[in-house]
Amino acid sequence: MAKFYLTTAIDYVNSRPHLGTAYEKIAADVIARYKRLCGVETRFMMGNDEHSQNVYAKARELGVEPLAFCDEMETVFREVWGRLDISFDDFIRTTEPRHRAGVTALVSRLIESGDVYEGFYEGWYCVSCEAFKQEKDLVDGACPVHQRPPQWIREKNHFFRLSSYRQRLLDHYAAHPEALEPEIRRNEILRLLEAGLEDISMSRTGQAWGIPVPSDPDSVVYVWMDALINYASGVGYGTDEALFDTWWPADLHVIGKDITRFHCVVWPAMLMSAGIPLPRQVFGHGWVHWQGQKMSKSLGTVVDPLEAAERLGPDPLRLYLAKEIAFGQDGDFTWDRFEDRYNVDLANNFGNLVSRIAAMADRYRQGRLVAPALPAGPLAETAARAVADYRQAMDRFALHQGVAAAFRIVDAANEYITSVEPWVVARDPDRAAELDRHLFDVSEAVRTAAVLLAPVMPRSCTEVLERIGAPAAAGALRLDRDGVWQAPPGAERRLVKAPPLWPRLTPSAREEKATPSARMEKVAPSARKEQTAMNEAATTEAQQPNPERARISIDEFARVELRVGRVVAADAVPKSRKLLRLDVEDGAGVRQIIAGLAKSHQPEALVGRRVVFIANLKPARLAGLESNGMVLAASGADGAPVLLTVDLPDQVPPGSEIS
Ligand code: MSP
Repeated sequence: MAKFYLTTAIDYVNSRPHLGTAYEKIAADVIARYKRLCGVETRFMMGNDEHSQNVYAKARELGVEPLAFCDEMETVFREVWGRLDISFDDFIRTTEPRHRAGVTALVSRLIESGDVYEGFYEGWYCVSCEAFKQEKDLVDGACPVHQRPPQWIREKNHFFRLSSYRQRLLDHYAAHPEALEPEIRRNEILRLLEAGLEDISMSRTGQAWGIPVPSDPDSVVYVWMDALINYASGVGYGTDEALFDTWWPADLHVIGKDITRFHCVVWPAMLMSAGIPLPRQVFGHGWVHWQGQKMSKSLGTVVDPLEAAERLGPDPLRLYLAKEIAFGQDGDFTWDRFEDRYNVDLANNFGNLVSRIAAMADRYRQGRLVAPALPAGPLAETAARAVADYRQAMDRFALHQGVAAAFRIVDAANEYITSVEPWVVARDPDRAAELDRHLFDVSEAVRTAAVLLAPVMPRSCTEVLERIGAPAAAGALRLDRDGVWQAPPGAERRLVKAPPLWPRLTPSAREEKATPSARMEKVAPSARKEQTAMNEAATTEAQQPNPERARISIDEFARVELRVGRVVAADAVPKSRKLLRLDVEDGAGVRQIIAGLAKSHQPEALVGRRVVFIANLKPARLAGLESNGMVLAASGADGAPVLLTVDLPDQVPPGSEIS
């Protein structure tokens, strides 16, 4: 059976995990779950980096023993990872005996190979990076990453002959370009290697917090060398040869782009020196940004991942991070965007699809769907293509593209319902088999999408599979078997109608849920006042009688912002014969529009349709509901409204301006 050993960076424990560090663990977890979905025997290891000076200082500040502090922090980290459903197989701490044994064994090999010598180090050291800095690395005298001045250090050190590995490293990346992804990170490292390497200090003197250098018990191993060895000690290096032989070399180290130099220069050189094979690949992902800069504890720009998971659930958070951030690039997190995407992707798209098919199965077939003996519909082909694209993307760790491929099935199924109009087919008993085909195919599309999304949203996909009558725990799925269209004649499934999986967030629910940090992010009060004044002025003007009503100037017309939207959900407004409530995707998010269309349009038939709406209309309340904009409709022959839609909808994405 194929094997896959993957790791993440191990975290410093001087503070709790934040959304940036959690992003890495979620991305790695998606990869681990994908590998398991492919039937690959997977070992996924994470852990804590405890021998940092900051950790020591934090413990001292709290008046506790460093190890006792690390024990407490382990509980904190495990709790967060548990809440985010991170499915690691092993969790290593650098204070564990197995790690100490691994470090001692590996550093001894470096010494034996003649690559370690004694010297004197004098220079800058950034404690937050735990890295030696050259003058040229500093910006205004401070570490550019942590924006803090480094310390000046003068001490006797052991040095590692990193410089002598320059050519071998260049040769390695020439022979194995895939060993460092994405390409932009590889190019950075190649430039660095081409510029030449200096030997590095590999020990610190006068510190007891760390693992002693085997040849000099008065020094401890430099925390980065100590930490890097976790990848080997975690699979038995120095303690369990058989385990090490089973899992080494690692297939993938998932790390942040700020620490590629350690992983792609120092670590492979250490392994070369010790005569150990190199990991197959390092993937340097981008940063999660908060208000334009790296989310970082030392910069005070962090979001608590638990707060995000509690707000909408761990799966929506996992989906946001996997789908909205191109893996390898930086991406933003804002509460508004997180909630917008939740509404668009989950409440109005995937969740709505699950509810629609369950409701139709219930209404037309008492919840029991049977595949008819008719040729497969077009969704089968769409799903097959999406599965192939998904596989291709996920194999390259293009997680965002993999998720997008899965969502193509969801989109196609929603559009399919709109185009085949099952509610019309249901009226004709002669078309019963056709209706069976439509309903079964939609349920099958939902099943396939849930299989593909299971690595990203394991809990919700298990629930979706149950609701559509194809139960399977996310971990029991296999892509080869379960990613194949399964609708042979006579196949049967029983669907369950249940409350929405992801209830839509209304503007007022969003405001209520808003945390202090989210509120801060919203429009500043002064700006809001200005906006209100502008709206009021606009209304007052609009209420003036227009002496030239029949003709307006182009400037007047230009004030009306007409846009194309896509209806993502529609329902009747209680106690109103005229009104429908629409959720309209407008390019930036989803807005609620109350439209007087009920007389001539069924809500279900509107979902997926492109509409034209006035985007800059002042919000109004209709039947107690807030309407943000107005959908355009013509007055039909009998005075009933006829919706204006868009020709060639595929060419006009939601948000397109009409001018
Ligand atoms: N302890 C070292 C890693 C040693 S690995 C042998 C370390 N720890 S850390 O806690 O500072 O960072 C852990 C991981 O989180 C790193 O890969 C780092 O790049 C990543 N991230 C920290 N902030 C991040 C963001 N804002 N966004 C994405 N990843 C971020 O470095």
